[in-house]
Amino acid sequence: MVRLAPSILSADFSKLGEQVSLIEKAGAQVIHVDVMDGHFVPNISYGATVMKSLCGKTKLPFDVHLMIEHPDQYAEDFVTDQTEFIVVHQEACPHLHRTIQHIRSLGVKAGVAINPATSLSTLDFILEEVDLVLVMSVNPGFGGQKFIPSALAKVEALKQIKEMHGLGYEIEIDGGIGLDNVEEVIQAGVELVVAGSAVFGAPNIDARVKEFLNIFNRS
Ligand code: DX5
Ligand code: ZN
Repeated sequence: MVRLAPSILSADFSKLGEQVSLIEKAGAQVIHVDVMDGHFVPNISYGATVMKSLCGKTKLPFDVHLMIEHPDQYAEDFVTDQTEFIVVHQEACPHLHRTIQHIRSLGVKAGVAINPATSLSTLDFILEEVDLVLVMSVNPGFGGQKFIPSALAKVEALKQIKEMHGLGYEIEIDGGIGLDNVEEVIQAGVELVVAGSAVFGAPNIDARVKEFLNIFNRS
């Protein structure tokens, strides 16, 4: 089953609780939490306190996307009863294997993300260990950017490797996803679809979530 993970980076923070309830009622399955430190990416977003303020206000699981340096130091802060994934960037982790094991030891699923210019081959020796691979289809740091099509080839390759070796990771895509290209990424093999501005920037958020889910159902 393909799941929709709206990114609250594009939400109206003055009414974050309400907007999260809205996407939950509309049928979104996951909340994507973009954490930026102003070092790994040229922007600062929010930290664990903001995410934890949603605990109990929604039943949806959190998909925590850490766009930060030294993620080992901060991963534990993002562990809650609702945390499904903690995702770190390959480019930020000189000891990626250790970081992945650390996240798993915290009792949550561990994911790895790669930037558009990073080759999939950098993950050759970690694919067996991860629960999720996040393919960035924009350069991380900001919402509302244009989809970079080379991400599709990475998704297709990940799907093939997964099937060939019977691996268990989910495939996620993040950046520039809208109603116009979501079908294509699902066909390529994506199972977790992040959408920020396409959901929270829509004139009618409820209707937009449902439009995405309708496309998932017929894909
Ligand atoms: C980008 C973030 C994304 C972002 C996606 O650095 O990782 O999750 O919120 O936003 P859209 O869907 O607007 O490209
Ligand atoms: Zn993200």
